[in-house]
Amino acid sequence: MLNFFNQSGKKINKKILLLSSDEQNYEKGDYKHFMAKEIDEQPNTIKNCVNEYIDKINKDINIFNFPFKEKEINSITLIGCGTAYHSCIIAKYWFEQLTSFDVSVDIASEFRYRKNKFKKDCLYVFVSQSGETADTYAALDLCNKNKMKTCSVVNVIESSIARDSKFVLPIHCGPEIGVASTKAFLGQMLVLYILCLKLAQKRKDISKKDYLIRIKKLFSLAELVKKSLMTEDKIQSICSSFIDAKGSMFLGRGYSFPIALEGALKLKELAYVHAEGYPAGEMKHGPLALIEDGMPVVVIAPRDQHYKKTISNMQEVIARGAKVLLITNKSKDEVYSENIWETIEVENTNDDLFPFLVTIPLQKLAYYSALKKGYDIDKPRNLAKSVTVE
Ligand code: M6R
Repeated sequence: MLNFFNQSGKKINKKILLLSSDEQNYEKGDYKHFMAKEIDEQPNTIKNCVNEYIDKINKDINIFNFPFKEKEINSITLIGCGTAYHSCIIAKYWFEQLTSFDVSVDIASEFRYRKNKFKKDCLYVFVSQSGETADTYAALDLCNKNKMKTCSVVNVIESSIARDSKFVLPIHCGPEIGVASTKAFLGQMLVLYILCLKLAQKRKDISKKDYLIRIKKLFSLAELVKKSLMTEDKIQSICSSFIDAKGSMFLGRGYSFPIALEGALKLKELAYVHAEGYPAGEMKHGPLALIEDGMPVVVIAPRDQHYKKTISNMQEVIARGAKVLLITNKSKDEVYSENIWETIEVENTNDDLFPFLVTIPLQKLAYYSALKKGYDIDKPRNLAKSVTVE
């Protein structure tokens, strides 16, 4: 048994993370790195998760034994760290779009030390791949001590967060070994989206027809994600620009804003280069000053309600010399802009689901950038898979 100490030197009980038998049997196979394997497994992540939660015959979402009455929930607070936090931000957009809940998002390390106004009618949702992240666990513990309604979205179901939350929604994506979270991110987003749809249906926030249409779309998601994986060649040819530059920016609006944050985080943690994710509309309030000749900028702009605005933000950075990699979706309409450096097109789907498709090229960008630099992809410096200390 290892001893762990808190900041004041007091011995604390901490579970040692042992690999479950699933993880012990999980191998790289023909892949050079777990991360590459985990990126490629994402169509299966989606398929498994959809099969676990959706009844194909009745076209209905099955969330059994949910312990809270929908009528007693008026707001949702989503809490996580790092990549899990990014999935919480996306979920906020979905919940706001499809339900009448008040929704807020919090970084666990901030939440645990703020003077929170705990609300009896709030569902606190904790998102964590490992289920052992110290800050997320502490935030959950705080909510439990205040007798709040807690629920977790986790990958490791025999984890502390799963054990201590009142309800658990597993993401069913299998072991994730690479420190950089990839398939767990897609799994977290999917479970949060499914929860959102189910609560929207229960509260009658969306019509039956709308509910069924969105469920139907989920059945084709795995196939669309598979097609997003075929961006290999283009990504490999452009990643040098990202690793040679002083820094890069990732921009998006709406659902694409958290994806921009996630793309930048992946590049930072794997390729050790500065990258910043930003809401595209905020550029003119300061960061535009960073743009100089040849700076790589990723613009995530699927043809959703924000498309035109994002394209106009993109033109502002191109005018200042940025090399823009545009990630959009296929369309018969050309992108109305000149001087785009490179474009990657993902498949078409409904707006809610674009985050799943546009994430993949960004994971690959980070992967190939790190590969080119010869870095330790599955174990980037200074980082741990499971952050069990503050
Ligand atoms: O296990 P968790 O999902 O709670 O981990 C949270 C973060 O530490 C994690 O997502 C981290 O940001 C990843 N290394 C990002 O790729």
